[in-house]
Amino acid sequence: MNTQPYAEPWRIKMVEPLEILTREERIEKIRETEFNLFNLNAEDVYIDLLTDSGTGAMSDRQWSALMMGNESYGGSPSFRRLKETITELLGFPHVVPTHQGRAAENVLFSAMLKPGNVVPGNAHFDTTKGHIEFRNAIALDCTVDEASDINDHGPFKGNVDISKLRAGINKYGVENIPFMVLTVTCNSGGGQPVSMQNISEVAQVCREHKIPLFFDSARFAENAYFIKMREDGYQDKSIREIVKEMYSYADAMTMSAKKDGIVNMGGFIAMHDEELYRQCCTFNIMFEGYISYGGMSGRDMEALATGLMEGTEFEYLQARISQVAYLGAEICKLGIPIIRPTGGHAVYVDAKAFFPQIPQTEYPAQVLGVALYEEAGVRGVEIGTVLADRDPVTREERLPKMELLRLAIPRRVYTNNHMDVVAWGLKQIWEKRESYRGLKIKYEAPIMRHFTATFEQI
Ligand code: F0G
Repeated sequence: MNTQPYAEPWRIKMVEPLEILTREERIEKIRETEFNLFNLNAEDVYIDLLTDSGTGAMSDRQWSALMMGNESYGGSPSFRRLKETITELLGFPHVVPTHQGRAAENVLFSAMLKPGNVVPGNAHFDTTKGHIEFRNAIALDCTVDEASDINDHGPFKGNVDISKLRAGINKYGVENIPFMVLTVTCNSGGGQPVSMQNISEVAQVCREHKIPLFFDSARFAENAYFIKMREDGYQDKSIREIVKEMYSYADAMTMSAKKDGIVNMGGFIAMHDEELYRQCCTFNIMFEGYISYGGMSGRDMEALATGLMEGTEFEYLQARISQVAYLGAEICKLGIPIIRPTGGHAVYVDAKAFFPQIPQTEYPAQVLGVALYEEAGVRGVEIGTVLADRDPVTREERLPKMELLRLAIPRRVYTNNHMDVVAWGLKQIWEKRESYRGLKIKYEAPIMRHFTATFEQI
């Protein structure tokens, strides 16, 4: 057996110095934002785990690729290089570039969705759901029940429950289902993967009913890594072979390239069907830009083409996902409850169990997020009642099954020493957890309130 310890397959060539405020200064800063974590100035944050989106570190190869960017309005060779990379990796002949993932959703859904339609999926991401509901259509969640069971430690909690999918198709009728969205990995469910077996079963049901199957692909390479590590028959396959097989089941995909593309901005749609490609081009020209750049500059497309290849290397993914697992293990050692197994991009702390004295209507996960900033300068994000928002019709607060603080880890940015600080910060709070009280909302916007809500302490 090989006993050599693993380490990152890169070394650091350039650093970004961080300022570390004192605990007292941080307590003041978070009060100035009225307990809104989004509104903190980024310089006042020591370790920023707000998101893994657009926050990764590009490699020297990506930075040098930037210099090769061709900024022509039409027919840029940088677009062709991006397109060829996507076709080689994912198998789609047609590519529509967009400025980020939600823009890809906007273009694709403009071409495909009508009011009253139903889109089944596995816990659609917020913007996906937003773009569906904005068009007066329904996002139907068919995720397996294990996904919302904090005590279930199954390997593929992003899977679709096939019987829920079939029941949904029967209930709403094939004619009202223009497509299905499968999110790999499933962000809303904790960065949990979907197995190849499940992908093939979902595809089978979709083919039976002639429903096109689209993948929301933000973290597709992380999903492939989990298949390799956890699913029988995939140990000896390369990440790129697994990715090819995953996408052999998809009719089209949307991509937020800010995650597994390891760029700061970018996205695309890719598909097999030429007619769908033509329709998307029309909306892309209206919303994003001409079909050979659509919201990205030539240099961004060069960096993305390189990033997609780096993001599908096993050694890179092993280092990345091992760091997430490392943070999860350190937090578990303290007895602090988290979603297990840890997912691809983040650790999700169970704030309900952390603060049993704080009712959901007093936002325990937001309390934990504020406390972690105060104690250690670490910024996470609330995935609980604040995010779940109010029912659009009754205006009642929707109380989700889980109250979570998400600690999303940027790619190639922090070391495990930073992860130790995160765990240490949680430990400080854990030791005095009974002393914390809830929050009350002072201001909230009518929709997507979590970004701008302000709070006061109870
Ligand atoms: N799909 C998934 C699964 C996502 O996680 C995101 C973004 C999007 C689509 C939208 O992509 O941001 O490029 O427009 N997730 C980020 C996050 C914002 O923090 O999880 P985008």
